[in-house]
Amino acid sequence: MRYQAQRGTYDVTPANAHRWQHVESAFRSLVERYGYQEVRTPTFEDTELFVRSSGDTSEVVTKQMYTFLDKGERSLTLKPEGTAPAIRAYLEHSLGQSGAVTRLWYKTPIFRYERPQKGRCREAHQVGLELIGSPSPAADAEVIEITVRYYESLGVREPKVLLNCIGREETRSAYRDALLAVAEPVMREMSTEDRARAVRNPLRLLDSKDPSMKAALATAPPITDFLEAPSRAHFDKLQQLLSEASIPFALDASVVRGLDYYTDTVFEVHSTALGAQSALCGGGRYDGLVSELGGPPTPSVGVAMGLERLIIVMDELKLPSPTQAMDAYIVAAEESAIGAVRELARSLRAAGLSVMHDLDNKSMRAQMKAADRLKSKWTILIGGAELEAGAATLRRMDSGDQRSVPMNEVEQYLRCESSSW
Ligand code: HAM
Repeated sequence: MRYQAQRGTYDVTPANAHRWQHVESAFRSLVERYGYQEVRTPTFEDTELFVRSSGDTSEVVTKQMYTFLDKGERSLTLKPEGTAPAIRAYLEHSLGQSGAVTRLWYKTPIFRYERPQKGRCREAHQVGLELIGSPSPAADAEVIEITVRYYESLGVREPKVLLNCIGREETRSAYRDALLAVAEPVMREMSTEDRARAVRNPLRLLDSKDPSMKAALATAPPITDFLEAPSRAHFDKLQQLLSEASIPFALDASVVRGLDYYTDTVFEVHSTALGAQSALCGGGRYDGLVSELGGPPTPSVGVAMGLERLIIVMDELKLPSPTQAMDAYIVAAEESAIGAVRELARSLRAAGLSVMHDLDNKSMRAQMKAADRLKSKWTILIGGAELEAGAATLRRMDSGDQRSVPMNEVEQYLRCESSSW
C-alpha cells in the first residue's frame, strides 16, 4: 500500500523548499526592522477559543474546523487561523503588561476543511502580524504598509489594497437592518438553518455564492453610509496616512471579512494573477477581541498572508527565488585519500562552508558525476599525488579553471575566490 498526502495538503520537496525559505526569511527580516517579535503557538487549541473569537456564525467555525475529542474527552481544534492563538498567548504570558504596544509576528500552518482548488488548501500556511494595544489609525497604516512593502520586496508589483470600514456595534446593527430589508425575499428560499444564521449575523449573507442573493445585496447601501463619527474619523485619517506613505488603495464596500472579530478597518490585498482565490492576504482592526478572550479592552490590528497564494503569484509573474549552491564537492581519487577527504570536509564545514563527499567508496568517475549533478561551485580532488604534496586540486566549476592549493589554505582560497564571483 502506497500512501499519498491527504486531499488539500501537499509536500514541499527539496526542489521547491528554497522558494518557501525565501518568502519566509524575507518576511522575518522585513518585520523585525519594524520591531515585531516572533510568537509560536501550538497546532491545536481549545475549540471554544475559535468559536468565541471567529464567531459561531462564521463559515470557518460552522463548516471548516478540524475539531476532535482527545482521549481526555476535551474538544480540541487544529488552528484555522493565527490571531486568536496569538492573543491567547499574549494574555497567558502577560506580553502587554508594561502598557506598551506589543508587536508580534508569526508563521503558522492553518487548517480549514475547504473544497481544495488552486490557492485553497486544507492545510495552508500564513505569515502574520498582530499589533496589540494601539487605537491609532497609524497602527492600521503601519500594518498595511508592511504588507505592501513585503509584496513589493518580493517583486510582486502594485499589490492591490482593498480597504473598507465596517464600524462598530451601532453601525453593524443599522447595516444589519438594511441588509435584511433587501435580502428578505431571497431568504425565504433558504434552509431554516441558513436563515437562522443570516438573521443572527446578516453580514454573513455577504459571503453567499447564490447569484440571486448577490444581486439583492448589490442594491443595499454600503456599510460606510452607516458609520458613526469616530469610525468615520478613523477611516479618513487612515486613508490620509496611506496616501502620505504612497500606498495606493481602493475603497471597496464588499470587503467585510469572514471572521467576526473585526471592528472598523478591514482590508485585503488582491492579485489578478490568482484567479478565483484572489485574496493574497486579509486583515483589519479587532478592538474587542482581547477583552472577549478575558483581557482588558485592548485595541489591536493585524494581518495574515497566505504563502501558497503568494508562491502561485510569484510563479505566474516568473519572480525568482534565489537558490544557494553547495560550495564544494570533494572527490577521493583513490581509496587512500578517503581519510583526507573526510578531514578536509570537516574543517571546511566547521569554517562555515557547505561541503559534500561520497560515502560509499564509489569510483572516481561516479564521484565526478555526483559533483556535476550537485552543481557545486567547486570540485576538490584529493589523490595520491595530492596527499604526497599536502595539497588539493581545486576546480572552479563555472570556468573549469584548476589549480593546486596547499591543504591548510583551501578554506581561505575558496573564500577569496568565491567572494569575487
Ligand atoms: P483570512 O482572510 O481568513 O484571515 O486568511 C488570511 C489569508 O490566508 C487569506 O487571504 C489567504 O491568503 C490565506 N488563506 C486562508 N485560508 C486559506 C486556504 N484554505 N488555503 C490557502 N490560503 C488560505 C485570517 O486568517 C486572519 N487571522 C487575519 C488577521 C490577522 N486578522 C487580524 N490579524
